[in-house]
Amino acid sequence: MSQLYSVPEHIKAKAKIDNDGYKKLYQQSIDDPEGFWSEHGQRITWFTPYNKVKNTSFESGKVSVKWYEDGTLNACYNCVDRHLANNADKTAIIWEGDDPSVDKHITYRELHKEVSRFANGLKKLGIGKGDRVAIYMPMVPEAAYAMLACARIGAVHSVIFGGFSPNAIADRINDCQAKAIITADEGRRGGSTIGLKANVDKALSDDACPSLEHSIVCRVTEGEVEWTEGRDVWWHELVGEVSDECQAEVMNAEDPLFILYTSGSTGKPKGVVHTTGGYMVYASMTHEYVFDYQEDEVYWCAADVGWITGHSYIVYGPLANGATTLMFEGVPTYPGVGRIGEIVDKHKVNILYTAPTAIRALMAKGDEAAKTSTRESLRILGSVGEPINPEAWEWYHRAIGNGKCPIMDTWWQTENGGILITPLPGATDLKPGSATRPFFGIQPALVDSEGNIQEGEAEGGLVIKDSWPGQMRTLWGDHERFEQTYFSTFKGMYFSGDGARRDSDGYYWITGRMDDVLNVSGHRLGTAEIESALVAHKAVAEAAVVGYPHDLKGQGIYVYITPVEGVEVTDELTKEVRNWVRSELSPIATPDLIHWTTGLPKTRSGKIMRRILRKIAANEYENLGDTSTLADPSVVDSLIENRMNK
Ligand code: WT7
Repeated sequence: MSQLYSVPEHIKAKAKIDNDGYKKLYQQSIDDPEGFWSEHGQRITWFTPYNKVKNTSFESGKVSVKWYEDGTLNACYNCVDRHLANNADKTAIIWEGDDPSVDKHITYRELHKEVSRFANGLKKLGIGKGDRVAIYMPMVPEAAYAMLACARIGAVHSVIFGGFSPNAIADRINDCQAKAIITADEGRRGGSTIGLKANVDKALSDDACPSLEHSIVCRVTEGEVEWTEGRDVWWHELVGEVSDECQAEVMNAEDPLFILYTSGSTGKPKGVVHTTGGYMVYASMTHEYVFDYQEDEVYWCAADVGWITGHSYIVYGPLANGATTLMFEGVPTYPGVGRIGEIVDKHKVNILYTAPTAIRALMAKGDEAAKTSTRESLRILGSVGEPINPEAWEWYHRAIGNGKCPIMDTWWQTENGGILITPLPGATDLKPGSATRPFFGIQPALVDSEGNIQEGEAEGGLVIKDSWPGQMRTLWGDHERFEQTYFSTFKGMYFSGDGARRDSDGYYWITGRMDDVLNVSGHRLGTAEIESALVAHKAVAEAAVVGYPHDLKGQGIYVYITPVEGVEVTDELTKEVRNWVRSELSPIATPDLIHWTTGLPKTRSGKIMRRILRKIAANEYENLGDTSTLADPSVVDSLIENRMNK
């Protein structure tokens, strides 16, 4: 039985919600969702108030999710303009550069000006309501300006993580038919530079993206770039002669705010669509209550804006709440392993939200990470992206949080818009490794393989029984795939793809993905995507990718490859294939172990038995399960014999 960490007195003293408060509000949110969300929808400023609140169905064949559907608003107005009356001089964004001597404070007034100017720049290029705009930016304030400027004029942004390669950029632009891309000359990370514009140029070469008309380039490093006249335009020139007044477009609650691509178990990445009203209500409400955000606190979410965490908890949630949000350009280990704590001290950070993979990387260096800082300002810690092992939890609590900061282990997904299962600082006793209890309005359940809901202490597939305002609405251009992916495994319920266990206190423990999706250092990757990058290499005949337990990354990428006949397998070739995946897809998809084999375990009908490959990769040979349906059972022995790093 793991230790229970009760709510510290100093947290309880000023927390917005205590345990009784949580129970009462939660019950209310389930008994009367209409009433609950009608009331809490008021936290957002509406141009036209809503009369309808919830109009949702999870029923097969007619899945439809609408919230506040007759209300109108603007997300940028909520994040910027509405704070001008009372908080114009408050810092909206603290930007901390990769170089520790560089930082910048941006007030709400400045934010308003920068965003409005850039919005006018976009308009000048003919970009308007409903147009899709890709954003491929480093972690600089302009990334947030770009998102907010799109929102201001009603353009739908699609942020592409700066670690993705040209092919991945092109796929995303083409899927959503983006009219423009916003990028930078280069990005900075950990003391080196990354040629972002060069990647965009490659993505756009050979007319690979016919929908794309403009490439807007922000000058970040002043590194050299190639230039395509007529298509490329400098950010600073675009905003050179525009006004700093730009009316925020009136948007319907159900107009798309953004598309964000994420990996699934099959096929190409999916364009997750989030709309405006419900998303803003949910992102801002979870930000306030999960982190018990108090006015004048400095809040830091150390994610990248290329992921949903950055959307909801660097930009939209905190800014809607008029918070001070810190944006960090660099990495936790540069110039030294103490960087996170040093940033906390420098900017007096009160709330720190990061990922287990970063925590484990620091923990691996003993207590080095804590030596160069006091972190006395910290009040609340957060964790997101993958299960946090109790050992990392305890270390985070003790070494980073000085033993006094409760950790919010927040479970959610790109598809969810905001946090679904989480403790609340003033309400929830913590168990290391458990995401604990559902947020308001969230009805999790555990199902067996037939979809029967399990009561009490149980383990099973983690489903959500009813809609919440921040939920995705569809997959861009493919509503059928949306239904198929999330609502067909267990009819009438949203299936997360994760498994979980519920203990006798009703706490949830996420056990990990149940499908062919990997979670590598908190990055979500589809095995199918990596496999298709692999088979595009001339030496690869067939490839199968599985995850295996990895001390730092959570999961590592284990690749089985059968070479094309006649190809000689050398160390050189292995290296080449590894680099190939990096450049075809992304460095985050780099294989950890490559296992060349003459055959893969297949059923007689030719289906690869991944269950067996996963077991071998995990070094678990005893319990391989039924292998009698294999076409050639001897393949298995040879694979075990040659398991990499045995
Ligand atoms: C998957 C979603 C949503 C933010 C970042 C990731 C895993 C996420 C936790 C957690 C255990 C977690 C799940 C989920 N995951 N948070 N606190 N404990 N697992 O978003 O890329 O959409 O990935 O990340 O497996 O399904 P994402």
